[in-house]
Amino acid sequence: MKTTNNTILITGGGSGIGFETAKRFSEQGNEVIIIGRNQSKLDKAAGQLKNVTAIAADISKEEEVQRLVLHLKKDFPQLNVLMNNAASASVHTLAVTGGAYAMAQEEIVTNYLSVIRLIDQLLPLLSLQPEAAIINVSSVVAFAPAQSIPTYSASKAALHSYTKSLRMALTGTSKVKVFELMPPLVDTEFSKEIGGHNGIAPGAVADELLSALKEDRFEIHVGQTADLYKLYLSSPEEALLAINGARA
Ligand SMILES: NC(=O)c1ccc[n+]([C@@H]2O[C@H](COP(=O)([O-])OP(=O)(O)OC[C@H]3O[C@@H](n4cnc5c(N)ncnc54)[C@H](OP(=O)(O)O)[C@@H]3O)[C@@H](O)[C@H]2O)c1
Repeated sequence: MKTTNNTILITGGGSGIGFETAKRFSEQGNEVIIIGRNQSKLDKAAGQLKNVTAIAADISKEEEVQRLVLHLKKDFPQLNVLMNNAASASVHTLAVTGGAYAMAQEEIVTNYLSVIRLIDQLLPLLSLQPEAAIINVSSVVAFAPAQSIPTYSASKAALHSYTKSLRMALTGTSKVKVFELMPPLVDTEFSKEIGGHNGIAPGAVADELLSALKEDRFEIHVGQTADLYKLYLSSPEEALLAINGARA
């Protein structure tokens, strides 16, 4: 996949991994559109970069997505890359009852169902382009769940499964390539409650994504995700213990 002269939509592009990716793409001659729920936060982020347009939209709300898609079709008909990066996570323990359903509902809607809806609505536009890509951001916890973020882990496992099916469906029948970015713990606002300061920098994730795109490396195991994946293949139980800090 080329990494210049694209028009790229990044959900959750106003902070963290999404922002660092927007920064690299904008520096490399791409047009970038960043999405989030807070227009002033997005404007601040876009103001630091070149060729970046900020559009406020909540990807979990159908009417806001419809408005966004109409806007994109009208003003960015050349859109050829969709990066589904926005997500929601709630730290909680299933040992304490109460609230798990509501948290799971929000995470499944934002992290899984909203991704499917956006792809559904933008695939016709992406398919018109000479070269196009969908990049779904899942996580190392798609391979083995972290019990402190149980329903988030399940939402990322669902996204991982769906992404494999999507890739199989589009390979050979479409010009749209399907990538999955699987970061380990990353130091962002998102991971503050789960020790994110021990994680890698979001810029390192963005660098790895750009390298992988150039090489058409479709399932991108960033940093420690590669080690966890190897462990998972040899012993899913050991991988589960490792991700929960019960094994070195
Ligand atoms: N940090 C980690 O340790 C880690 C590890 C593995 C995978 N990941 C994944 O990496 C991706 C980016 O996370 P991050 O760590 O960079 O966190 P982040 O900085 O908090 O980024 C998440 C972004 O998503 C946006 N967002 C959330 N809900 C939204 C919605 N309903 N509609 C539109 N935008 C929404 C947020 O903006 P607003 O709140 O302003 O809307 C925010 O800009 C996520 O998919 C996450 O699951 C993170």
